[in-house]
Amino acid sequence: MERLNLKKYLSKKAKEINTALKQFLPKDNSIISQSMRYSVLIGGKRLRPIFVILAAELFGTKSKNVMPAACALEYVHTYSLVHDDLPAMDNDDLRRGMPTNHKKFGEATAIMCGDALLTEAFNLVTKSKSKAEYIVQAVQVLSTYSGFSGMIAGQAEDTLETGVWSQQSKAFLDKRLKFIQIKKTAALIIASLKIGAVLAGADKKSIKALEVYGLNTGIAFQIVDDILDVYADKKLLGKKGSDIDNDKLTVLLLYGKDLAQKKAQQHVAKAKKAISIFGQEAEIFHLLADYIINRSY
Ligand code: IPE
Ligand code: IPE
Ligand code: MG
Ligand code: MG
Ligand code: MG
Repeated sequence: MERLNLKKYLSKKAKEINTALKQFLPKDNSIISQSMRYSVLIGGKRLRPIFVILAAELFGTKSKNVMPAACALEYVHTYSLVHDDLPAMDNDDLRRGMPTNHKKFGEATAIMCGDALLTEAFNLVTKSKSKAEYIVQAVQVLSTYSGFSGMIAGQAEDTLETGVWSQQSKAFLDKRLKFIQIKKTAALIIASLKIGAVLAGADKKSIKALEVYGLNTGIAFQIVDDILDVYADKKLLGKKGSDIDNDKLTVLLLYGKDLAQKKAQQHVAKAKKAISIFGQEAEIFHLLADYIINRSY
């Protein structure tokens, strides 16, 4: 598949996902429902739902069967962004090219919007077409990877421990940075892949391979996110970049841009190696890994 085709594939999938999201989102006029629709529908690359669908398709399951779970991953991701932007966290006022949820609806609504998206996500997973035991497993995966030992662990380390980097050794900080990258970002990407695979009834060895792929593309994704925070065209990026203002421990701070890019490439190589067991079937996963480090937003 050519690069152009990957772009076409991604935009086709994003369109299908957006149609499904519109169907699943609440339609009433309450402020909470409006705020949920706002943050989910203003944009986003839809990478996590795309991973759910791709993983399911790899094991012969049609995208429509896992579309509710795919949308659930976008709900959890969007909730994490709404909360991440709050004044108590990264204090950002632009997201996906639009005012952040709390700027538009106020802080209380933004908090509850996130609560509602997260809660509803579990309901959505159960609407997938799969065996009951696979759906239970998918719910467990979503809970584990988004909760206190998953994404929240990373957000906590990233948010509560800012500005202390200067007092620590490089080795300590490298370990901490890895923890943040894996937990706050790779965890949901791994969850997306695992959920798609689990719902499609994949075997354990295949799921493990996707997990290693997700871990490494996830780390690479966050490395690039840190680089873009400083170097991207902010209009294209749709967010202003706040890591320096917030004194965050980032890959740029520890290694600078060149070495950071090299590290991202190394993780992509590891990701590709992990999925070599699938052969040609998984070509799209190779292209996606390259896209993740070459993206400009
Ligand atoms: C941004 O994620 C937050 C991170 C985990 C780094 P994305 O870059 O996937 O954001 P959207 O969904 O495209 O807006
Ligand atoms: C956010 O990381 C990760 C989650 C929301 C879980 P960042 O704070 O780096 O994400 P952006 O840069 O605001 O999108
Ligand atoms: Mg953050
Ligand atoms: Mg942020
Ligand atoms: Mg960032």
